[in-house]
Amino acid sequence: MAKGRLTRWRGGLLVPWIARRMVPEGRTSLARAGPRLDGLAFSGTIAISRIMSDSSPFSPAAGPSAAGPDAGTVYLVGAGPGDPDLLTVRAARLIATADVIVHDGLVGDGVLALAPAGAELISVAKKRDRHSVPQEGINALLVEHAKAGRDVVRLKGGDPFIFGRGGEELEACRVAGIMVEVVPGISAAMGCAAAANLPLTHRDVASAVTFVAGQCKGLSDQNWAGLAGAGRTLVIYMGVATADDIADKLMADGLSPDTPVVVLENGTLPEQRALRTLLADLGDMVHREDVRSPAVIVVGNVAGLADASDRLGNRAGGLQMLDILRGKEGLS
Ligand SMILES: C[S@@+](CC[C@H](N)C(=O)[O-])C[C@H]1O[C@@H](n2cnc3c(N)ncnc32)[C@H](O)[C@@H]1O
Repeated sequence: MAKGRLTRWRGGLLVPWIARRMVPEGRTSLARAGPRLDGLAFSGTIAISRIMSDSSPFSPAAGPSAAGPDAGTVYLVGAGPGDPDLLTVRAARLIATADVIVHDGLVGDGVLALAPAGAELISVAKKRDRHSVPQEGINALLVEHAKAGRDVVRLKGGDPFIFGRGGEELEACRVAGIMVEVVPGISAAMGCAAAANLPLTHRDVASAVTFVAGQCKGLSDQNWAGLAGAGRTLVIYMGVATADDIADKLMADGLSPDTPVVVLENGTLPEQRALRTLLADLGDMVHREDVRSPAVIVVGNVAGLADASDRLGNRAGGLQMLDILRGKEGLS
């Protein structure tokens, strides 16, 4: 049998099997009507271009026609951690040609300055205890503008699919028959870590990294056991207000109080700070140093690698570093 035919044959068996594995019974809407495969391409390796279900809100079957031929497109765009230079080329192009930009509070002026003069800028900034526009309202806003024939850039800090509710907005647009494109962004963990010369993985130090939300429903019920410790890095988003509880939780799970932690505040922005200490001191340090959101907390031995050097390894002016761990203060 020719190699290409063998691959196609294997693909014929494997793809339905993969689909069954990806969509366990009763777990997602994809499972409800039973997955249907479409647009499969085989070229030596198997590529699954679409797994579709008639009932799924993610299905292109809901399609552009449902909202009419003149409807605009919604672009769910990641704006990165703050520095406009960290936008993707695609994000910068879309911002520069947008009719409407619906943006979060984390999207700074430097990024918004790239919008054309005639663009309508709508802020839907959220505060921790207060949503200025409820999520349903944001969904409706996107759909309403797209139905009016406008291309909408929905601009979110970092990446739209990392603690960004991008999945909910994608689903709402699909249900309304609006075309959607997702443009990834550099998430805060990666952006902030890079700015502090902190490798989240390192062959000698950590081979696994996990992102968790520190401000979520029922923090104490979240099972983080095993996510931090030797060889692992834990990055906590939205953890400033709950830093005391987070430290207690991790220590109760068996993590050593001596584990290095670094808090990266306003990463990639001119006012960025890196504050390093030990896990046992995390909550106190956040209060002492008046750490404010946005900040990520990195827990694990890689935190010991962060520094405030410039590209040549000299001390840089761009990052204020308070190093309680090494007894050095005010490095900058
Ligand atoms: C609602 S989440 C959004 C995360 C975003 N989608 C991402 O991928 O980075 C907001 C949290 O992201 C983190 N964050 C975002 N930008 C940051 C920055 N420049 N510096 C530090 N943390 C940041 C903070 O933990 C903040 O509370």
